[in-house]
Amino acid sequence: MADTTFDGVDLQALAQRIGTPCHVYSATAIRQRIHALTTALHGLDAQVCYAVKANSNLAILQLMADAGFGADIVSAGEMLRAVCAGIPAQRIVFSGVGKSADEIAQALDAGIARFNVESADELHLLQRIAAQHDVIAHAAARINPDVDAGTHAKISTGKSENKFGVEIDEAQRWFADSAQLTHLRLDGLHVHIGSQMLSLGPIRAALQRAATFRRELEADGHTIRSIDVGGGLGVCYHAGHDTPVAIADYVDVIRRELDGFDGRILLEPGRWLVAEAGLLLTRVIRVKHGGQRKFLIVDAAMNDLVRPSLYDAWHDIVPLGPDSDAPQRYDVVGPVCESSDIFARDRELPPCTAGDLLMIKATGAYGASMASTFNSRPLAAEVLADNGRYAVVRRRQSIHDMIADERSAQQWESA
Ligand code: LLP
Repeated sequence: MADTTFDGVDLQALAQRIGTPCHVYSATAIRQRIHALTTALHGLDAQVCYAVKANSNLAILQLMADAGFGADIVSAGEMLRAVCAGIPAQRIVFSGVGKSADEIAQALDAGIARFNVESADELHLLQRIAAQHDVIAHAAARINPDVDAGTHAKISTGKSENKFGVEIDEAQRWFADSAQLTHLRLDGLHVHIGSQMLSLGPIRAALQRAATFRRELEADGHTIRSIDVGGGLGVCYHAGHDTPVAIADYVDVIRRELDGFDGRILLEPGRWLVAEAGLLLTRVIRVKHGGQRKFLIVDAAMNDLVRPSLYDAWHDIVPLGPDSDAPQRYDVVGPVCESSDIFARDRELPPCTAGDLLMIKATGAYGASMASTFNSRPLAAEVLADNGRYAVVRRRQSIHDMIADERSAQQWESA
């Protein structure tokens, strides 16, 4: 029988009260990860900037704020969330290839710590806007080290064919010309090669390139005050199959590769902090016997958790009922009208019937934050469990909320 409590909260009772589908997060599990990372970083001049995109719920961001963590943002919306949750602007770094002039201006006004710059165009836009605002922007060059992260192609970012970062030669020219950038202090490096990495080799290779480049820049008379090592540490989605790297080993690689660097090390973990601390609670609507397969049709769908549809990602699925000696094979699917609305194919599970509850596991990262209202399905509720108590940290969206900004075409204008 699977454990039916999560951070001390009874999931059957929770589903009765809150309904399904429902994202549930464990505050205790997140705090454990925060503690483990903080312990591993002991003695380093390091600042963790949690990657808000992984899970941007304000209650999750508050846990990060309480730990003294900063935020890695990729939009003005994420900045607002981070600041609302109590993360000081001085601990916020701004990544992303498409920062707009308006977003850059907002971030400068807020006084964020650093821009991770990804193109020459962005570098010059940042200089112009900083000059208009009469402030100095702190910037890091995001280098693309051309390292294969060894992960799913859709979540790899560090190969030269990817849109992220710039080649080291180009970054070198930025530094060489940086004296002309009167309102910009280019004194950092940034590297992030991909996500869900389960081995240290690619991370080591990327850091080696960053470290070599740092030494070259310093030999040329430039000062590098920070190296941002990005995020990307993988987690266990498939018990008995995925073997995540130990956090201490990851930090040891950072220590070793950045040995001799006396500036600040920034880290941008997202998934590792929150993925395994979350689950998606869903109820079986019906069992359908198709021509070739047996379908478990559940009330969660790809709009609540898109990872399986988008990346063929595996998530362990555990029914809350008793185990059985005679497992069945099911395709676990949602109600959305897409063949890709599928959580698991040919998955062995105990026999299930309508009304049964299932946990889709390790959904705390890139679950709710990637949700949509496709098929006019309301955004699911989100709940934070904490040692026997729970709080609803996002109420289930109502259909009324969903359509509130829409109207019939009555007021016509010309442009
Ligand atoms: N820093 C930068 C610049 C990033 O682009 C990302 C993630 C992170 C940090 C955090 O990476 P993490 O530690 O979470 O791996 N939706 C995909 C993941 C996309 C990740 C995008 N960037 C998924 O569900 O697997």
